[in-house]
This record gives sequence, structure tokens and C-alpha cells, in this order.
Amino acid sequence: MKAEDGITILKIGGSVITDKSADDGAAKHDEIERIATEISGFDGRLIIVHGAGSFGHPQAKRYALTEKFDAKGAIITHNSVKNLNRFVINSLNKAGVNAVPVHPLGNTVCENGRIVQMFIEGIRIMLENGFVPVLHGDVVMDTVLGISILSGDQIVPYLAMQLGAERIGIGSAKDGVLDNDGKTVEAITSSNFRDIEKYIGASENTDVTGGMLGKVDELLKLCETSSITSYIFNAAKNGNVSKFLNGDDIGTAITNTGT
Ligand SMILES: Nc1ncnc2c1ncn2[C@@H]1O[C@H](COP(=O)(O)OP(=O)(O)O)[C@@H](O)[C@H]1O
Ligand SMILES: [Mg+2]
Repeated sequence: MKAEDGITILKIGGSVITDKSADDGAAKHDEIERIATEISGFDGRLIIVHGAGSFGHPQAKRYALTEKFDAKGAIITHNSVKNLNRFVINSLNKAGVNAVPVHPLGNTVCENGRIVQMFIEGIRIMLENGFVPVLHGDVVMDTVLGISILSGDQIVPYLAMQLGAERIGIGSAKDGVLDNDGKTVEAITSSNFRDIEKYIGASENTDVTGGMLGKVDELLKLCETSSITSYIFNAAKNGNVSKFLNGDDIGTAITNTGT
């Protein structure tokens, strides 16, 4: 790894590493290990963000955390997603990746659910020293609501802007953004978004943070304020994480180029 290498941010969706139809944390350990092995083949500067899947969404829903303040529910939800983070960290370490946990609860403040502050100096130093910071969707403190649910899908573009990331990949369990015929949309820009929006919806499972439409919204905002292109791809398919990390442009590009 060279210090001047651009930063890559990879998100692994909860739909890939958990059984998202379960109503309490069910990890897909084989998938976590497979993805850890694919990641171990990469030696650039890398940040990983993972989703919560059944380690966060059902709990947040049970305690109605998107509607009202509930301290006990917040703690239960955070502890659950922290357990998933521990599985991810352990598998990465076992595969030879120097992964370290960064829990958003301790370093991020939101206002009405949007990040207003994140302490990222630690992440910068981790990257300089060859560590791979691993963040995740989490419960965070909120200046208005007390607590809010912060999606990994919001963390990714925030970090990309703050750190000037070069490549962004959002690994989920579908072959990108699909159209009405189930075909992968090649590219979404602010110009064609209105036509495609009608095919994009929430999650088929419990997901309190917006499903596929939430991802596209966040990434479109990012490419409107930067020139960063992101790729939504299928991380549930063997080899795709390696392909993305090796520079292949797979899945659906969310981009500003060509507009
Ligand atoms: N047009 C679409 N293309 C792909 N997925 C879609 C689309 N519209 C809705 N979805 C749903 O959004 C889900 C992805 O969002 P989500 O469940 O939040 O994934 P993750 O756990 O990876 O964050 C898909 O699994 C699918 O159920
Ligand atoms: Mg999601």
C-alpha cells in the first residue's frame, strides 16, 4: 500500500451478511468469511461500512426508534449491531486484514437524522497506518431527537466527501438497481433519475432506513456535490467484491458524468 493511494469505501449491506428476514440477529457467517477473504486480496487504503440487517432493523422497529425516543431500545439496538460488527472484524482479522471497529455511536452527532458532526481524525490516522476502519449503521445521538438511526448508506457519502474518496462501492443482494423487467440499470444520473425512480422502492425485508431508494438518493446527492461516481452491485455473488476492489465497474453506476 502506498500513502498516496486513493481511498476506497466499500459498503456491505445487511442483506448480504445477515438473514434479513429474521426478527432477531441471524448472521451469515459463511458469507462474512467469504467477503473477508475477497477483501484480504486488496492492499489499498480501504474503509468498510456494513449494514445492520437483522442485527438492527427489527430491533429499531420493535422499539419504534424512528418515531420516538427510547433509551432502552437504543441500547438494545446498538448492542445488537455491535455483535454483528464483532463477527465482521473477527473474520477480517482472521483473513489477515488489520480491521478495527469504529462505532458511530461514539463519534457522530446527527440533527433530525442527518450527520452534522463526525470525529474522523482517528479514521485518517488508521488509514495512514494501514488499518481498515470498519463502521456500521448505528444508533447515534441527535441534537433534536435525542437519538436517531444512522444508516450506513448515509455514512458512506459523508466519509467520501470528508476524506475525498476515489472509489465507492455499495454491495447489496441484488445485481444493482433493477428496472421493471429485473434488468440492471447501467447508470443513474440526475437527468434519468425521474424516469427510473418509479421502479425503485424500499426493502423487501425490515429496513428502517430506506432500502434501495435510500441508497440512490444518498449517492445522487453525493455526485451532485462532488464528481465521485458510486457503484451499487451484488456482493452476494462470489467474486464481485474482489472485482469491485480490483477496479471493475460493476452493477449500477450513480454518476454525474454524461449529464
Ligand atoms: N429497483 C430496485 N432494484 C433493486 N432492489 C430494489 C429495487 N426497489 C426496491 N429494492 C429493494 O431494496 C433492497 C435493497 O435495500 P436494503 O434491503 O436496504 O439492502 P441492504 O441490506 O443491502 O442495505 C433490495 O433487496 C430490494 O428488496
Ligand atoms: Mg439498507
